[in-house]
Amino acid sequence: MFKINPLRKRQFSGIIIGLITGIGVFYFFTLKSTEQYVSIGPMNNGHEDLSCITCHANAKGNLLQQIQSNISYGVGVRKASVDFGTKDVSANNCLECHDRPNDRHPIYRFSEPRFNEAIKNIDATTCITCHSEHHGARVTINTGDYCMNCHQDLVVEDDPLDIDHETLISKQNWSTCLQCHDFHGNHKYAVPEKLSDTIPLTAIKDYFKGGKDPYGNDKKHKGLSEADWLNKLIK
Ligand code: HEC
Ligand code: HEC
Ligand code: HEC
Ligand code: HEC
Ligand code: HEC
Repeated sequence: MFKINPLRKRQFSGIIIGLITGIGVFYFFTLKSTEQYVSIGPMNNGHEDLSCITCHANAKGNLLQQIQSNISYGVGVRKASVDFGTKDVSANNCLECHDRPNDRHPIYRFSEPRFNEAIKNIDATTCITCHSEHHGARVTINTGDYCMNCHQDLVVEDDPLDIDHETLISKQNWSTCLQCHDFHGNHKYAVPEKLSDTIPLTAIKDYFKGGKDPYGNDKKHKGLSEADWLNKLIK
C-alpha cells in the first residue's frame, strides 16, 4: 500500500514506532470496556508507568504485525480488525523485560517431568501463579511454604546454620526459608546464618504487598523500562 523512498524509510518507521504505544493503548481501550478496566485494580509495583500493550499483546513479532493490520483496518483496507490486546498474558510477556540468566528458579526448568508432582501443588512454570497483575502488590501468592514441594530432601554440605537445614525441614519449618533466602536470587546481600538474624515474617508480608524490600535494594538485574522494551522489540 505504501511506497516510500528508502532514504526516508528510517524516518518513517521512527514515526510509526513512536505511534505504537499510543495506538496500542487506543485499540486496547476500544476493545476492552471501561467497566472492565475500572474493575481490574491498580498496577503492581514497578508497573505503574507501563502501557497496557507491554503485557497485553502476543509474542513480540506479532505486535508490529497486529498494529499494521489494525492501521490498515483503520483506513478501510481490511475487513476485520485483528484481535488486539485481548490475548491472555503469558510468562513470555514478563520475560521480555525480566529475562534474568541468574534466576535460581527459572520457570522453564520446571517443565521437566521430575517436577510434575510439585507443579500440581505450585505451578512454578509461570510467573502469574505468584505475581497476578492488577493487585497493587509485588507478590500475590500469600504463603511462602511451597518450598516444601521441591526441597524436602535437601541436605546442605558443611551447613553453616546454627540450626541446620535438615533440622528445619524435619520440623517442617517451611516458613523460615524466605526469611533468609530471596526466591529468585536476584538480590545482593549476605544470607543470614543464625535463626536470630532472620528477616521477620511481617517484613516479608509487607514486601509482598508492596512495602520496603527487606533483602535490600542492591539487585543484579532490573526490569526493562518501556522505552528499552520498545527498542528491543523493533530490533
Ligand atoms: C505488567 C503486565 C501488565 C500490564 C502493563 C497490564 N496488564 Fe492487564 N493483566 C495482566 C495479567 C498478568 C492479567 C491476568 C491476571 C491474572 O490472571 O491474575 C491481566 C488481566 C487484565 C484484565 C482481565 C481480563 C483479561 O484479559 O484477563 C483486564 C481487563 C486488563 N488486564 C486490562 C489492562 C489494562 C486496561 C491495562 C493498562 C492500563 C493493563 N491491563 C496493563 C498484566 C498486565
Ligand atoms: C515493559 C517491561 C515490563 C514487563 C512486560 C513486565 N515488567 Fe515487571 N517490572 C518492569 C519494571 C521497569 C519494573 C521496576 C524495576 C524493577 O524493580 O525491576 C518492574 C517490576 C516488577 C516487579 C517488582 C520488583 C520490585 O522489587 O519492586 C515484579 C514482581 C515484576 N515486575 C513482575 C512482572 C511480571 C510477573 C510480569 C508479567 C506479568 C512483568 N513484570 C512484566 C518492567 C516490566
Ligand atoms: C513460585 C512463586 C514464584 C514464581 C513462579 C515467580 N516468582 Fe517472582 N517472586 C516470588 C517471590 C516469593 C518473590 C519475593 C522474594 C524475592 O525478592 O526473590 C519474588 C520476587 C520477584 C521480583 C522482585 C525481586 C527481583 O528478583 O528483582 C521480580 C522482578 C519477579 N519476582 C519476577 C518474576 C517473573 C518475571 C517470574 C516469571 C518468569 C516470576 N517472578 C516467577 C515468587 C515467584
Ligand atoms: C518447583 C520446585 C521448587 C520450588 C517450589 C522451590 N525450589 Fe528452590 N530450587 C529448585 C531447584 C530445582 C533448584 C536448583 C537445585 C540444583 O541445581 O541442584 C533450587 C535451588 C534453590 C536454592 C539454591 C540456589 C543455588 O544456586 O545455590 C535456594 C536457596 C532455593 N532453591 C530456595 C528455595 C526457597 C526458599 C523456596 C520456597 C520459597 C524454593 N526454593 C522453592 C526447585 C524449587
Ligand atoms: C538462617 C538462615 C537460613 C534459613 C532459615 C534457611 N537457609 Fe538455606 N541457606 C542459608 C545459608 C547461609 C546457606 C549457604 C550459603 C548459600 O548458599 O547462600 C543456605 C543454603 C541453601 C541452599 C543451597 C544448598 C547448596 O548445596 O548449594 C538451599 C537449596 C537452601 N539453603 C534452601 C533452604 C530452604 C528450602 C529453607 C527452608 C527450610 C532454608 N534454606 C532455610 C541460610 C538459611
